[in-house]
Amino acid sequence: MVYQALHPFIFFNVFVQVRQTSHRKFCFLFFLVSFGANCTSFTTSSDDQLLYHGFTSANLITDDTTIVMSNGLLELTNGTVNRKGHAFYPSPLHFHRSHSETVQSFSVSFVFAIHSSYPGMSLHGLAFVVSPSTNFSNALASQYLGFLNSQNRGNSSNHILAIEFDTVMNIEFEDINNNHVGIDINNIHSVKSHSAGYYDDRTSSFRDISLISGDPMQAWVDYNGEDKKISVALAPIKMEKPTRPLISISYDLSTVLKEPSYIGFSASTGSADSRHYILGWSFGMNKPAPTIIVNKLPKLPRRQGSNPQLKLLAITLPIASAIFVILLCGVFIIIVRRRLRYAELKEDWEDEFGPHQFSYKDLLQATQGFSNKQLLGAGGFGKVYKGVLPSSKLEVAVKRVTHESRQGMKEFVAEVVSIGHIRHRNIVQLLGYCRRKGELLLVYDYMTNGSLDKYLYYSDLKPTLSWDQRFRIIKGIASGLLYLHDKWEKAVIHRDIKASNVLLDSQMNGRLGDFGLARLYDHGSDLQTTHVVGTMGYLAPELVCTGKASPLTDVFAFGTFLLEVTCGQRPVNNSAQDNPRVLVDWVVEHWQKGLLTNIIDTRLQGKYNIDEACSVLKLGLLCSHPFTSIRPNMQQVMQYLDGDMLLPELTHMEMSFSMLSIMQDEGFNPLTLSYPPSGTSIGTISNISGGR
Ligand SMILES: *[C@@H]1O[C@H](CO)[C@@H](O)[C@H](O)[C@H]1NC(C)=O
Ligand SMILES: *[C@@H]1O[C@H](CO)[C@@H](O)[C@H](O)[C@H]1NC(C)=O
Repeated sequence: MVYQALHPFIFFNVFVQVRQTSHRKFCFLFFLVSFGANCTSFTTSSDDQLLYHGFTSANLITDDTTIVMSNGLLELTNGTVNRKGHAFYPSPLHFHRSHSETVQSFSVSFVFAIHSSYPGMSLHGLAFVVSPSTNFSNALASQYLGFLNSQNRGNSSNHILAIEFDTVMNIEFEDINNNHVGIDINNIHSVKSHSAGYYDDRTSSFRDISLISGDPMQAWVDYNGEDKKISVALAPIKMEKPTRPLISISYDLSTVLKEPSYIGFSASTGSADSRHYILGWSFGMNKPAPTIIVNKLPKLPRRQGSNPQLKLLAITLPIASAIFVILLCGVFIIIVRRRLRYAELKEDWEDEFGPHQFSYKDLLQATQGFSNKQLLGAGGFGKVYKGVLPSSKLEVAVKRVTHESRQGMKEFVAEVVSIGHIRHRNIVQLLGYCRRKGELLLVYDYMTNGSLDKYLYYSDLKPTLSWDQRFRIIKGIASGLLYLHDKWEKAVIHRDIKASNVLLDSQMNGRLGDFGLARLYDHGSDLQTTHVVGTMGYLAPELVCTGKASPLTDVFAFGTFLLEVTCGQRPVNNSAQDNPRVLVDWVVEHWQKGLLTNIIDTRLQGKYNIDEACSVLKLGLLCSHPFTSIRPNMQQVMQYLDGDMLLPELTHMEMSFSMLSIMQDEGFNPLTLSYPPSGTSIGTISNISGGR
């Protein structure tokens, strides 16, 4: 018998014989090779063990689709549909105790794997089989798992014990599910079955195993000859045999198993292809099956759909997606931040001002992000920055006006824009605006030579202006103001005429800037909340009183401006703390004494037209008269300046007033409200309480 031929005693005999021929080394190698390759080990003929890690030289009886692959892997089915395959140990075993009916104890363990082309689906299954014959030509594939057919199933003459690992739920055989292990005796209809899995030794909870996972797994089948008990266990590879079996039944195999019987495997495919692999196998008769050493097992072929690239993808894809999501969030945040950064306010009523609207982004770019380097000046209404528009390369001045309330904004913007239509050589051209939350940005033509006050009060910064230049500026401003008051569709009140709001272009023409801005802060004429806007010394008494601006309040401020330019003095001089000097009063004093020429700016060094200078001073006094009835309108002012009309002679009666006392009478102390010390100031808000 082949079985006996593999007995170590025989090897020993061979060894002894070869030794006698003095080829020791050769035969020792031969011994190792024979022993190692078969991976089998036997003791006596009645208590035998076998162990395979791969089946390269196992000489198994195979048929149909079954092959042993070059790496020793046993492939029962080869991926073709409706096929069966078998592999049996080449010689039958004696299961019965000698001269007895009883079947002795035996144990089997094997490592198998099921691969399928379709993830999550496999047809049909495999079984460990004990059978009197290895001829299964009449057996059917598919649900018969290759070892029975529809005629012979259930016949006791089959003498077949099979442990099935079935991946199909066949209702005909009352299968419990499509992933079960069953004990079959002469029948494909299991005596007992259980969903594939194992009982965890530590927690004793049941854990599922998917037979078609494609991963190798180990099964153990034990028959106890004393108790007549069959038990089956299953576990993932690399796991010890679970203490608690998956299935356990009492069944006397004495009448089932024939003497002798073959042991082996049967597998079948159905209408979908699957590959059933056995990686290793051990058997013990009256002994435990030797332990299969996992890392000695042959490698399984790569599964379709589980190649390393896909595995890599399975790892990298979630990471990549996470990074993608994070990036997306980042981009979103950046966009939102940009949106907030560049956010502008825009309402329906502004549609008509479209051409006058600037984008905040452009203004940011133009002013280098409103950097201090670009700062031209700062005042009560906000800061002014120099900028260069990115598209047109036009030099502009951008004024940032902080504005908390939306009240009056609509009217203000409307007025600003309508004034923007004004083109006059003595008015600073407004190019447009941009509205943001709490902020209004006004874009003006850039005036190369800066504001007039710098020339008047900062002689170290700018050269002193000649009388001709001053007179030209005065006439220019008068013409600009006249245009605002009379020539425009409706009277536009400037509200904040002063030297620092007079800007000089490259030809040293005076241009009025900042008209209308005061309106933004002017909350009407309600005396209780009188909120007069303007600059100290330029405020007409009735404006302080009523809060109502009119063309004549502009004229008052213009008068002060005339005195300022001619004398080179600030409207309110509080350098002498206890005795503030209001410019108008000072000029009146000198007029009364007939000493007007004494107060003309000494920086002119006497180089001026005396008639012109004195007329300007007298006109200034007329304009800044406390009584509105005495003040001329801008039309008349223009005529006086052009010499088209003679100035009315001022009477001493008319000129006997003290602006300081008038102001103090109104509860208005020029000292408590400081005149902006810096000539760069663009606007000043004077908040005067209603008390008088
Ligand atoms: C599978 O085995 C059968 C029978 O040996 C053979 O005819 C068929 O070509 C094999 N198929 C593949 C894909 O190896
Ligand atoms: C005014 O500006 C022009 C052009 O930039 C320049 O040539 C001129 O010198 C300036 N005048 C004064 C007084 O700064």
